[in-house]
Amino acid sequence: MAAPVVDAEYLRQVDRARRHLRALISNKGCAPIMLRLAWHDAGTYDVKTKTGGANGSIRYEEEYTHGSNAGLKIAIDLLEPIKAKNPKITYADLYQLAGVVAVEVTGGPTVEFIPGRRDSSVCPREGRLPDAKKGAPHLRDIFYRMGLSDKDIVALSGGHTLGRAHPDRSGFEGAWTKEPLKFDNSYFLELLIEESEGLLKLPTDKALLSDPEFRRYVDLYAKDEDAFFKDYAESHKKLSELGFTPR
Ligand code: HEM
Repeated sequence: MAAPVVDAEYLRQVDRARRHLRALISNKGCAPIMLRLAWHDAGTYDVKTKTGGANGSIRYEEEYTHGSNAGLKIAIDLLEPIKAKNPKITYADLYQLAGVVAVEVTGGPTVEFIPGRRDSSVCPREGRLPDAKKGAPHLRDIFYRMGLSDKDIVALSGGHTLGRAHPDRSGFEGAWTKEPLKFDNSYFLELLIEESEGLLKLPTDKALLSDPEFRRYVDLYAKDEDAFFKDYAESHKKLSELGFTPR
């Protein structure tokens, strides 16, 4: 599909959608699932074939029924009224804006948002998102395919400061932090505690501890929240622009 024309009216609708998103997210407490939606739309990117990425294709049944997207139809449906009120905005932009606003309203860093992503109706094949049961080599395979780095992997894993796993969606259960609606560096602090009572650690979370290159960043982000916020904001912006070159 053609790139949207980002004119004054488009920007006006982006501003209004931001306000609508803030209201929706605080009303429904749905910041975590909005961040997960944004990440799963973008995280299918393949830097070599330039396919997948932040292109709104997750709105199609073919893609949201992928096993790794279980539950995300809830977020897609919650955003439909905002799309209807701001029809110029592409789904691709709206989903990424929702992710950026989710981080912002829960106390996280400001992530720069540049509009103009085009929508695609081409869904990637299943299997491009990470498998939580695997280890460091798998994380590198998946994130390097997107064109992202070790630092991006660790910083973005800090997104698990928000939300929880649901047995009926992923088969895992529980939150990573004691305050799953607050964006801070507690994901890394809890990760460094061997047995955090009642909190979740996926095999892919634990891989960040055992791999020395990843571990450097875990240690840094646990002791320096400002460093985490700075790197997170950069990595999230990169993630949100996979397959999109801002003009
Ligand atoms: C939830 C895996 C990276 C944000 C989950 C869940 C799994 C998972 C299994 C539970 C889903 C459910 O049962 O509802 C992974 C793996 C990753 C990864 C293997 C590889 C590093 C990320 C990234 C972000 C992110 C990069 C965002 C920057 C979230 C959020 C939730 C979540 C916010 C909570 C959703 C909710 O509460 O509904 N992730 N994830 N994840 N993930 Fe990840």
